[in-house]
Amino acid sequence: MPTTPKGSLTVTLDGTNRTTTLPLLGGTIGPEVADIRRLYSDLGVFTYDIGYGGTAATESRITYIDGDEGILLYRGYPIEQLAENSNFLEVSYLLLYGELPNAAQMAEFTHGVTNHTMLHEQIRRFFEGFRRDAHPMAVMCGVVGALSAFYHENLDTSDPRQREIAAFRLIAKVPTIAAWAYKYRVGQPLMYPRNDLGYAENFLYMLNAVPTEPWKSNPVLSKAMDLIMILHADHEQNASTSTVRLIGSTGANPYAAVAGGIAALWGPAHGGANEAVLKMLAEIGTPENIPDFIAQVKDKGSHTKLMGFGHRVYKNFDPRAKIMKETCHAVLAELGIKNDPTLAMAMEMERIALEDDYFVSRKLYPNVDFYSGIILKAMGIPTEMFTVLFAVARTVGWVSQWKEMIEDPAQRIGRPRQIYTGEAPRDYAPLDTRG
Ligand code: SDX
Repeated sequence: MPTTPKGSLTVTLDGTNRTTTLPLLGGTIGPEVADIRRLYSDLGVFTYDIGYGGTAATESRITYIDGDEGILLYRGYPIEQLAENSNFLEVSYLLLYGELPNAAQMAEFTHGVTNHTMLHEQIRRFFEGFRRDAHPMAVMCGVVGALSAFYHENLDTSDPRQREIAAFRLIAKVPTIAAWAYKYRVGQPLMYPRNDLGYAENFLYMLNAVPTEPWKSNPVLSKAMDLIMILHADHEQNASTSTVRLIGSTGANPYAAVAGGIAALWGPAHGGANEAVLKMLAEIGTPENIPDFIAQVKDKGSHTKLMGFGHRVYKNFDPRAKIMKETCHAVLAELGIKNDPTLAMAMEMERIALEDDYFVSRKLYPNVDFYSGIILKAMGIPTEMFTVLFAVARTVGWVSQWKEMIEDPAQRIGRPRQIYTGEAPRDYAPLDTRG
């Protein structure tokens, strides 16, 4: 539903008679927003919000998060219900088009994605340009960004059909690029996608199969991978999605925009946290060392973060972390892994942290990354591929948000302002006059 007027906000500059009244707008649910677009022209002042913690950069109908209640909705559907009843391609359709597909729409969408998974054969050569030990996220940034070099006829973002084709290509080809980045790293043959497999199953096939023997699908692992992808598919205006929107707002093509999103996701404060959680748990070593690590985290001077904890929006449990934790137990049980030491460490870490006022008072709870790495490790996914998997799943969210932005008649190039605290105007000093 469109925004609705909810009243107004009057702003007066203290000590002057300068005042303005700004519209207060409401959406379907969630906080109202003060529309400040006139503030600068009326009062000559900017707003200041480092990290945009209290700033709505856009109107969106895709995902809603209630950080206090720990609620996450994709197009109005609770993440718990989608995790229980849906699958990643159906969720992808929902995020892209706004409604759950009927049988015919699902069949057509599945066919469209499945039949776009192959890469142009020359793209194979891109991988050979990287060192074998290159981080797979570096390869993802490079190869996804280069996709636009193969689709010159499909870069007109004003054409709805070309936008849709680009969306299909990105959703379908990013898993192949991701799997090939891994295979290149380990020196194994690149495995071509198979059209007879499901989306998550095909990704596991391309990651794990070798040409020398038949590959046996594991339905439990495919289902777990599909669920992990659902949980990572979209998340409102997070750093990487905002990056994709900002790049797309200039008219740059969607392949370049998604490559920018991959770069943003790589950071340990964002999607790189799942890899960082495993490294943190490995460095701590044993549950006995957890109290010392917690003490280090609480010592600001150590600049140590409890990775996988905290969130800009969630000030309650991240609902995805709860589902991930339950899935952990199911996957480990299916794999016959009893008493996984990493899971035991994580659960003890969570118990200790949630009893410690430092974390409780700051409303720091486990986020999506705290348990995801443990499942992925148990599934045999290498640690350096965790954030790559996050990027594979988030591609549909980035593309959906990019498409929504392009189709928004109100959208304009993103161009934040600043508060300048540098030097006041001064004259050039010739070299021989400088000290
Ligand atoms: C993702 O935005 C999204 O939606 C992202 C994401 C998605 O799906 O797209 O959900 C995916 O990125 C999840 C987050 C993964 N990152 C991590 O797990 C890294 C560890 N977390 C922190 O770096 C941090 O919590 C952030 C980056 C996630 C959030 O940073 P904020 O918003 O700047 O943190 P805050 O304002 O809530 O912090 C409040 C206080 C501060 O201390 P004080 O100044 O009040 O003394 O809590 C401290 C922070 O220093 N704090 C932590 C902490 N996170 C915040 N202290 C220790 N360990 C932490 N993890």
